[in-house]
Amino acid sequence: MIIKNPNTGRNMQINTHSISDANNTIEALKENTSWALTTVHQRTAMLKRFRQLLKKNRDQCQDAISKDTGKPRWESLTEVDAAIHKLDATLMAYDYRMNYPDHQSPQKIIQTLHKPLGCVAVIGPFNFPLHIPNGQILPALLSGNTVVVKPSEYSPTISKLTEKLWQMAAQNTPTPIRFVYGDKVIGKHIVNHAKIDGVFFTGSSHAGLVIERACLKKRIPCALEMGGNNALIVEDATDDIINHLTMSAFITAGQRCSCARRVIINRKHEWIIDEWVKAVKQLSINPYPKNDNSFMGPVVLPNVKYELLTKKFNHTTPLLPAKDIGAGGLVQPRIELCAGPLDKELFGPMAMIMLSDSFEESLSLANQSGYGLSCSIYTQSKKKFQHAFHTIEAGIINWNTPTTGASAYAPFGGVKNSGNFRPGGFSMIDHCAIPIASTQSNHIHPIAIKGMHA
Ligand code: NAD
Ligand code: SIN
Repeated sequence: MIIKNPNTGRNMQINTHSISDANNTIEALKENTSWALTTVHQRTAMLKRFRQLLKKNRDQCQDAISKDTGKPRWESLTEVDAAIHKLDATLMAYDYRMNYPDHQSPQKIIQTLHKPLGCVAVIGPFNFPLHIPNGQILPALLSGNTVVVKPSEYSPTISKLTEKLWQMAAQNTPTPIRFVYGDKVIGKHIVNHAKIDGVFFTGSSHAGLVIERACLKKRIPCALEMGGNNALIVEDATDDIINHLTMSAFITAGQRCSCARRVIINRKHEWIIDEWVKAVKQLSINPYPKNDNSFMGPVVLPNVKYELLTKKFNHTTPLLPAKDIGAGGLVQPRIELCAGPLDKELFGPMAMIMLSDSFEESLSLANQSGYGLSCSIYTQSKKKFQHAFHTIEAGIINWNTPTTGASAYAPFGGVKNSGNFRPGGFSMIDHCAIPIASTQSNHIHPIAIKGMHA
């Protein structure tokens, strides 16, 4: 298939697999019954080898991510480092969640043991092409599953490199992880394949809801990390808030699920608007590799740039129009004042400002969305934050910190159309194995039965 390189706008031919290749891959993983029988120490050893390879190939991975996504070098390096550090968090999560208390009673022990799901599919997005699939692959493998990875069709370079590193990490053992390349057609085929036992998806709500229905029909579990139309509420403000707004709305050129798309400002702080627009005009935006000291690079999807430049929304007034600033996906962020309901995730650098007359109105506006991923509340009052925490419908609720910037040591996921109420992140381990109750005794003891005459 052909995709456009976001840095240059030039067409790129990428190799994809056929349906029969996908079938063969799934069959091979399903036949690999030895992985589930290895000990957690043996599995950890392979994951550590992979981490070592990521460290050794840190610059190569950075270059591959930047080539695929246009992220500045500094930003791709933070993604590689996040992938490197993810193993520590995954091992901690495993210890924390896989060790239920045993209960000893006379003549028996009651234990909770875990079984892997089997062969699971990890379907990834383009915006964190290494870190996001890695955050699902590590707990899935550690729990004893085999994994078929279907990376985004827009991240061919880093996905091929990751595949190679996994092959090296497997050494001479039958590999428990394989990659299949293609677009949503192959993704759908994998989800619906009879031998897939679970689906871990990160991407748009539209695709996620289709996958959720397919998994329900097959009665297999799925983890869904989907889109957002996130609100950032400004109740109190100082000059320092301007950079918080920029980091929330425009980091990664607005291509993070956690980006603030609606900035809800109490009218008493209307002054922020001009200050923010001025600051955003100063952002340096360049394609890779020219963007070493830039804030952001291009948007990846050509249709997103097109929509940013042309799409008109009802009830809005332009404050900063999007501007085409070069080949590929280069575009200056767009900011509008919005006076009506608007519930669309445009996955790029676009923010809608809404003005409110009270904190209650801000909370109500924030909840007027079918999405529920992240929300930040800026206020000096802990009481107001606590009230917001109970009122806001979202999976991530921050106080005086940006909507973006997830930690590996906390759950990450959403409610409503942003997730299936069971977050990933630190909690991803919970999706990877089934807790099985087992009451055990090493001897057949007599059981006295009431009402039975000897
Ligand atoms: P996308 O939904 O277009 O594609 C994601 C992946 O799913 C790709 O690999 C694609 O080929 C595959 N796919 C698409 N339709 C499918 C289907 N019906 N069946 C099986 N596979 C299918 O998303 P994208 O454009 O790659 O990523 C951007 C979206 O991802 C945004 O909506 C963003 O908010 C969301 N996202 C969410 C999170 C999160 O953790 N909640 C993180 C990153 C991105
Ligand atoms: C994302 O997964 O798209 C965002 C995570 C973050 O904000 O760090």
